[in-house]
Amino acid sequence: MFANTATYIIMDHQEIELQIKNLRDQLNQYNHEYYVLNQPSISDYDFDQLLKQLIELEKANPQYSDPNSPTQRVGSDINKEFEQIKHQYPMLSLGNTYSEEEIKDFYTRIEKLIDDPFEIVCELKFDGTAIGLIYENGVLARAVTRGDGEQGDVVTENVKTIKSIPLKLIGDYPSNFEIRGEIFLPHKGFDKLNRDRVENGETPFANPRNAAAGSLKMQNSSLVAKRPLDCFLYYMLGENLPSTFHTENLEKARSWGFKIPTQIKLCKSIGEVMDFIHYWDQERQNLPFDIDGIVLKVNNIDQQKKLGFTAKSPRWATSFKFKAEQGYTKLESVTFQVGRTGAVTPVANLTPVYLAGTTVKRASLHNSDIISSLDLHENDMVYVEKGGEIIPKIVGVDESARKKDARKVEFITHCPECHTNLIKIEGEAAHYCPNSESCPPQVKGKIEHFISRKAMNIDGLGTETIDLMHKNGLIHNVADLYTLHPMQLLSLERMGDKSANNIISGIEASKEVPFSRVLFALGIRYVGETVAKKLANAFKSIDKLMNASFEELTEVDEIGERIAISIQQYFSTEKNKTLIEKLKSHKLQFQSIEDKSIEKTNHLNGMNFVVSGTFANFSRDELKSIIENNGGKNLSGVSSKTTYLVAGEKTGPSKLTKAEKLGVKIISEDDFMKLIE
Ligand code: IVH
Repeated sequence: MFANTATYIIMDHQEIELQIKNLRDQLNQYNHEYYVLNQPSISDYDFDQLLKQLIELEKANPQYSDPNSPTQRVGSDINKEFEQIKHQYPMLSLGNTYSEEEIKDFYTRIEKLIDDPFEIVCELKFDGTAIGLIYENGVLARAVTRGDGEQGDVVTENVKTIKSIPLKLIGDYPSNFEIRGEIFLPHKGFDKLNRDRVENGETPFANPRNAAAGSLKMQNSSLVAKRPLDCFLYYMLGENLPSTFHTENLEKARSWGFKIPTQIKLCKSIGEVMDFIHYWDQERQNLPFDIDGIVLKVNNIDQQKKLGFTAKSPRWATSFKFKAEQGYTKLESVTFQVGRTGAVTPVANLTPVYLAGTTVKRASLHNSDIISSLDLHENDMVYVEKGGEIIPKIVGVDESARKKDARKVEFITHCPECHTNLIKIEGEAAHYCPNSESCPPQVKGKIEHFISRKAMNIDGLGTETIDLMHKNGLIHNVADLYTLHPMQLLSLERMGDKSANNIISGIEASKEVPFSRVLFALGIRYVGETVAKKLANAFKSIDKLMNASFEELTEVDEIGERIAISIQQYFSTEKNKTLIEKLKSHKLQFQSIEDKSIEKTNHLNGMNFVVSGTFANFSRDELKSIIENNGGKNLSGVSSKTTYLVAGEKTGPSKLTKAEKLGVKIISEDDFMKLIE
């Protein structure tokens, strides 16, 4: 009998191991279909269900854990410096050419050095950040950045979050090799990332290349996992490569699971090379990612070896760089905009000019240093470029077209909105208007941020209404929102009963918005959505956060000195302290829910609860312990003794019918929270 049981257990474990393996294989296959082939064969929902199953099995059976399991692509929040290692093969760069002449020179140089016929492979030059992936026995062992070309940072954990990079290969791969490629952010992902950053009060990335490089160097790989990075592979290195032709190696790599670009052409003449270059110079506008040129490589690896390398780059390859399209136009004026933080941004207003698909009328000048370095004068003729950046910039001035008496563009000394003297903080490039309390764009900007979707998400309120309310003196700061009366709203232009009530109930509902979002809504400099969550998690209440020392602040993951200083500055300002007191008196959430749950009260004395279903903010067990901490009792089933049935999503229908029959009050999670307040 004992032997039977033992056999049974072994069988069971084998089955689990097999099931885990099958799930991993299936998920790897689905990831490949989705991220590499662009041909998903199952729905996102079904994929998530399989992933969930695997996560649970791995959790229950840690002996089968595997760092290359598809579950490991979510990243971890361990904060670490990157290890540096020497590249087995130096990561060289490519020579740049800018003209047809230079391409012809490259071609004839090769003709001279190689007697046999040769082929040139033309590829797109992806504008991202270079990466070397080292595979050992078909498993991704390390991912290393270019660094200085000799050694780079090991960023394996971050790279593992990129779904188009296979963690395990399939087929007849060599046991050891390196494959190099480019990690990039497609336009769609880049636009969304920047929209989110602006909404969070963070500086947007200047271009997708910076965003991709920045993402790879983040300390917290679970944050990297949220960025829709992608990776094309274009160069294989190793002792036992399958072929002596570059294109054949890439085709093989495609069959092992890599995302290999399809826009490749094998050319037998300089004419074919030029055709490829001209075609993509036009067509690049329609690609969903950035390229900055074309790469030319000799296809035969034996010929590559014969040609060799110079100190910096291979003789067997070069690149043709596309020219950033430039526009030439007149600077009509410079205006100055004031943001919600008081930062003053100069903007160049231009005579409209057509550039790379759009009409450009304005260009950002960023700060006073840029104006001085351009030596900008009124009515100057200027060159503008879009070069990867969404907002065009002035890259040069045509001094020959300047009139003799033209005046220099001077940075303003007073705020264009409230006429307060501007200040410049040492070490920062920006000028600020210090009148944060009554400078209109700052006041309105802060309120707009406060009500925005990711902050207090106040329904019915938008920029226009805030503008009107401010103009009519109804609100001067965010606390004023909570004392608004429907009658005051009705006095505004085009405001009907329904809209006014909507706004008032939206404001009322915002009192339930969790602490982390209230903290974000305050608009403290550098405290974006993610930072606010980290702070709320670490300190649990505004009081603890306000009293936190500099050391306590910087101990929190991702909170550096710059953020800590800004937080301490915010809370040491009297008017901010008053504002928080006012908001507290209006009952906004200044405490984390978890913190409340450990608070002990007798609010629920004598009450009996049944908790059923699933909830947005708590697990069932958490709710039960909140009930006990606050003096209530938990019952397992609904009976005449039950005071409340706390019903979440998917509450058992029999419990609901019984409660209705017995007249037991059915309440939601929100109703329950109100009970304990
Ligand atoms: S091959 C030894 N192919 O351009 C040459 N590089 O300045 C290995 N790049 O560091 C590079 N697209 O980051 C190659 N199709 C492509 C490329 C490409 C972009 C980047 C790469 C490299 C830089 C060269």
